[in-house]
Amino acid sequence: MSDYARITGTGSFLPEKVLTNQDLERMVDTSDKWISERTGIKKRHIASDDETTCDLAEVAARRALEAAGRVPAEVDLIIIATTTPDKIFPSTACLLQARLGAQGCPAFDVQAVCTGFIYALGIAEKFIRSGSAHCALVIGAEAFSRIVDWSDRSTCVLFGDGAGAVVLEASDEPGLLSTHLHADGRYQHLLHVPCGVSDGLEKLAGKEGKVQMRGNEVFRVAVNTLGRIVDETLEANGLQHSDIDWLVPHQANIRIIQATARKLGMNMERVVVTVDQHGNTSAASVPLALDTAVRDGRIRRGETVLMEAFGGGFTWGSAIMRF
Ligand code: COA
Repeated sequence: MSDYARITGTGSFLPEKVLTNQDLERMVDTSDKWISERTGIKKRHIASDDETTCDLAEVAARRALEAAGRVPAEVDLIIIATTTPDKIFPSTACLLQARLGAQGCPAFDVQAVCTGFIYALGIAEKFIRSGSAHCALVIGAEAFSRIVDWSDRSTCVLFGDGAGAVVLEASDEPGLLSTHLHADGRYQHLLHVPCGVSDGLEKLAGKEGKVQMRGNEVFRVAVNTLGRIVDETLEANGLQHSDIDWLVPHQANIRIIQATARKLGMNMERVVVTVDQHGNTSAASVPLALDTAVRDGRIRRGETVLMEAFGGGFTWGSAIMRF
């Protein structure tokens, strides 16, 4: 048993190829002005044809291990949150485990779409606090561009690829204070890829193998739900809005992020924003934003950080920690 699970290192990776709003203007009937005003996105990174989710996850994981001063042999749990695994099976976590040479420990993927990293963090925290693991690699990684319909202007402007990772270790000091995970499957049709394995793999090659979304309705539910989970998280820890030093939100849309910041009474200077540079990288977005702000020196040891996410399912969740 351990009192706390604490992040001891962060890492991330973005594919080299960049797709700007100007590039998208040449692909579909859209404009930089529309995308910027409605979403805040300016550009996103796209995995090359021979680059997989595991490739992105591996670099992010190695960077997180290096930051934590750990080697792969010390890792005793690997969880990857992804919607775009390399293979139907084995899990991308198993593929990564082999590359790292960390064999023997449990390794599995978690599917909660854009909330995946928060789910994975919540699961890893429970492994560590129960004494089942001491040093976990928790990763969000996506080659999300593979399931985007590049002829659908209402979705293709939103998403990007990338990976973020943390090393989570047993600790006597805080640490994660609490994680909060939720889902409501009744909303499944508002944001989904409508086909899968048991439903007929032959559909995968067509439009049914790509993201479909009712953006307006997703937007409304996301804003309300994230407002509620912020309150739930603060109440569970007896904290006030003013106790939060940093908000690290899921990076889907700047207007959703601003609405959550308003609810918290937080100045946007205390909110980590990468959506302009990365777009929505689904499960990778929160750990990518966290690593960005840790590496550029904004988030410091001892500060209180609130992470939250919302995604297909619907799923939503939060994690609050002393960094
Ligand atoms: N370029 C130009 N015009 C576009 C466009 C694009 N890329 N995409 C849609 N439009 C058009 C629509 O066709 C519509 O035109 P119409 O009024 O002639 O019918 C108009 O813009 C408004 O569309 P609407 O969907 O109402 O826009 P919106 O203000 O809701 O913004 C989103 C659209 C997708 C940016 C917004 O709904 C959103 O961000 N939703 C949440 C999505 C999300 O975060 N998903 C992931 C959650 S994890």
